[in-house]
This record gives sequence, C-alpha cells and structure tokens, in this order.
Amino acid sequence: LKIPAPPHHRYFGLMGHLPDLDPTLPVRSYWQFMDTYAPIYQLDLGMTYPRVFVGSRELVNEMADDDRFTKLTHRLHQHMRPVFGDGLFSAESTSKAWGKAHRLLVPAFGPIGLSKMFDDMQDLSGQLVLKWDRFGPDVEIECIKDMSSLTFDTIGLCAFGYRFNEFYSDEPHPFNKQLNEAIVESGRRANRPDLLNQLYYREEQHRQENIAKMRALCRKIIQDRIDHPKPDAKDLLNVMLNGVDRETDEKLGVENVIYQIPTLLGGGYETTTSTLCFIYYFLCNNPKTLLKAQQEVDQIVGDKVLTYDMLRKLKYLDACMKEALRMQHPVSLLTRFATKDTVLGGKYFIRKGQMVSGIWRHFHRDPKVWGEDADEFRPERMLDVNFQTLPPNSWKPFGDGLRACIGRGFAEQEILINMAMVLQRFDIEKVDPDYQLQLKGQMGVKPVDFKIRVRRRPGRG
Ligand code: HEM
Repeated sequence: LKIPAPPHHRYFGLMGHLPDLDPTLPVRSYWQFMDTYAPIYQLDLGMTYPRVFVGSRELVNEMADDDRFTKLTHRLHQHMRPVFGDGLFSAESTSKAWGKAHRLLVPAFGPIGLSKMFDDMQDLSGQLVLKWDRFGPDVEIECIKDMSSLTFDTIGLCAFGYRFNEFYSDEPHPFNKQLNEAIVESGRRANRPDLLNQLYYREEQHRQENIAKMRALCRKIIQDRIDHPKPDAKDLLNVMLNGVDRETDEKLGVENVIYQIPTLLGGGYETTTSTLCFIYYFLCNNPKTLLKAQQEVDQIVGDKVLTYDMLRKLKYLDACMKEALRMQHPVSLLTRFATKDTVLGGKYFIRKGQMVSGIWRHFHRDPKVWGEDADEFRPERMLDVNFQTLPPNSWKPFGDGLRACIGRGFAEQEILINMAMVLQRFDIEKVDPDYQLQLKGQMGVKPVDFKIRVRRRPGRG
C-alpha cells in the first residue's frame, strides 16, 4: 500500500515538503501531519527516498526489530562530527571507538557509579535551591535558565570533576555558549545542501573557532587530571582515562576522551533541562498532583537532609517524572533506517535504507495502550502500570537497543534529587496562571517563556 503523503506545496513543489515545515519548530508540522494521516505518512525532504513518520505503538514496536531496522549515523551525525568526533553519539556502532567507550562507560553509569555521584548532584541542586530561596516569592524565575545551569554543572562535576559554576554568574559559561552555537550551526549545515554550505564560510569559521576553544578546555581538564591524579575521584574521568577495555585490552586514549566531554554534555544537558521544566510545568498545572508529590516528600524526607536511600522510596515523584516524559518528550523523533526492503504494519512497503521516524508525542499517547485519557497528565497511571506486561515499546523515552541512552540512570537520579529538594522547601506556581506550554527547537524541544514563582513552605526554614 502506498504510504499517504500531504500534497506538495502549490508554488514550491520542487522543494518537496521542505517549505511546509514550521521554521521555528519543525516538529509542530510533523505533529500536525500525524493528526491528519495517523498512523503513518511520508514527506519528501530532499533525500533519496521520502522520509517516513509513524505515530502508533505498534509501528514503533516494529522499528525496534534489530533485524529490520538499525540506528545509523546519518547526515546530522556527519555534520556533528567536528564537535563530537568519535564520541559515543556520532561514532558508528560497528566502530572500535564506540565499542570501547560503550563497554567502559555502561558500568560507570550503573547503580554503583551513580550512588557515588549522589553527593555532587545534591550539592548542585542545593545551589539552585539556595538561589531560589534568596530570590523569595517576588522574583519571576525563568525555569529553563536555572535548570540549564543545574544540568550543565551536574554533568561537568559528575562526569569530569569540573565546576562550570553556572550559578555564580549571570552569563552561561563560555563552554556552554560555544557548545550550543556549534550544535546549532552543525544542525543548520546538515539541513542545507552541501553546495550552499560553501557560502556560509563566516559561520563555518565561527564554528571552528568555537570547537577550537572547547577542545582547549577539554585538553586542560584532562591534562590536569593526568598531572594531578585523583585516585579517589568519583567522576567518570578516571574511568575514561585509566579504564582498560576487556575486549581490546586498550584504553580510550586522550583524543577520544576529549570528544566524550562535549558528547556527554550535548546528549545530557538539554534533554534533562527540558524534562525538568516539563515536570514543573505539569505539576503547576495540576495542583492536586503537586500537593500529592509534596506530601510524599514530607513523608519520606520530612525536614531531614535527602539521602540516597530515600530516593528509591519516592515512588510518586518517579511516576510524575515518567508521566512527564510520556506526555512531552524533550527530543521529538526516534529515528531508524531499514536494513532491507520490508513491510510495516503488514501493508506499507519500506525500501532498504529508508529513514523511519517514530513521533514520540503520538506513540507515547497511543489510546490503545493508555486509554481514552492518554492526553492527560495523570502520574497515577505510572504507579498502576506493570511495565513487564505493557505492550512492548509503549514507553521508551530513552530509546532502546544497543544505542539506547547511556545516561538514563544519571538523568533520573538528578531529576529525582532536584524534585525532592525543591518540593521539600517550596510551594511553586506559574507566574501567568493562564500560561500554556509553548515550545521551540530544531532537534530537541524546549519550553519558551515558562516562568515560575517559589515561596518557602511554612516550617521549612
Ligand atoms: C542517547 C534520551 C539524558 C547521554 C539518547 C537517546 C535518547 C536519549 C532517546 C537515543 C536512543 C536511541 O536512538 O535509541 C535522553 C533523555 C534524557 C537523556 C530523554 C533526559 C531526560 C542523558 C544524559 C546523558 C546522556 C544525562 C549523559 C550524562 C547520551 C548519550 C547517547 C544518548 C552519550 C548516545 C548513546 C550511544 O549512541 O551510544 N538519549 N537522554 N543522555 N544519551 Fe541520552
């Protein structure tokens, strides 16, 4: 069966569907098309084959079949390579560099490694709480700004033992700005035809300058650790510099570690930032849920200092996090490539090499899985649900398979710590009670103009 496609633009038909995409938020267009053509459609976006989009749990489940679909590094990754090199994100699954880093870092991101990072994560959430406390209830807090500081600092400290000290400056750390600019420009280059890219030489020069500055800092961080070893440090840098891969009997090498620094920051900081903002947005919109979350924190943490053991008991907070990730994913698309000619849903023909993207907004809200209230934020469903018996791939914000998110546990721990510490101390509300979530973003999505006010809770002085 032919996969449905929206009609081509009347005047710009030659450019395929490119002119139909919303320039500030392309995913908004993908969502709108899915509303019309669910559960599948295709767009002509100037690639060899049309790009296919799917929006049901059943079709995304088929994409998880490793025999038929794979995660390839594609044009985007290739243009990101000057920034991320052969770090985990842009290296091919078959490359030696990916295998070594994956085998060394998976255990380091496991429960024992994460428990060692608890104190540093708590330290940084403590800085956010202190700042909010000093602000008091009259100051409007731009949620994304402080959450960016938190997540950037947390990866810096827990992964490389480096303090970016974002909370001590009004401006983001230069590395933060350089990384953002380099990622945005690389994304733009991936979206432009190569010939046109040659005209953007000033932008390219600026990107290269940013990359050179970032590399200089990464090299310094690494050299410092080599010159002044810290055998007891609980961060990932020791693992990356000294760990020996059991399969190849080799270390990662300094050059590769340099690339893992922007890779872990790039993979982890905007995703976690947006997720934290979405959680607080949903909580502010649902006062009863917010109250219930606070009651759980009161019961488990009370007025004590949060401990690692308490985290596991915060079941309702965990449900709020899971439900927020279901409702509003910070990335938007989960992309795979067909490894052979195949058929989706028993009737849609897909060619070998064709790109297929699952739209999180839609397959995470599949009414066949979540029922008629799938569009509602209701954390209780995450308490009731048994993930073992749920149809496979109903909820997968961290991807799946070999290339699933390596930082999942890291993000979950950081988020829970922050929620517990914020809810323990503050009542929070939206500055504008009528505010509805607005988004922007090319690859990931982040909230725009989401402002909150916080007030210290009585008795939490
Ligand atoms: C990959 C989501 C936090 C590092 C991914 C993927 C997703 C994802 C969907 C791709 C999986 C696939 O295509 O199947 C998220 C979300 C996060 C988060 C929703 C927060 C809520 C983090 C953090 C780090 C991190 C905190 C690091 C500290 C990475 C890396 C990859 C990755 C390095 C590439 C892994 C590989 O290809 O081997 N993430 N992530 N992520 N993530 Fe995360």
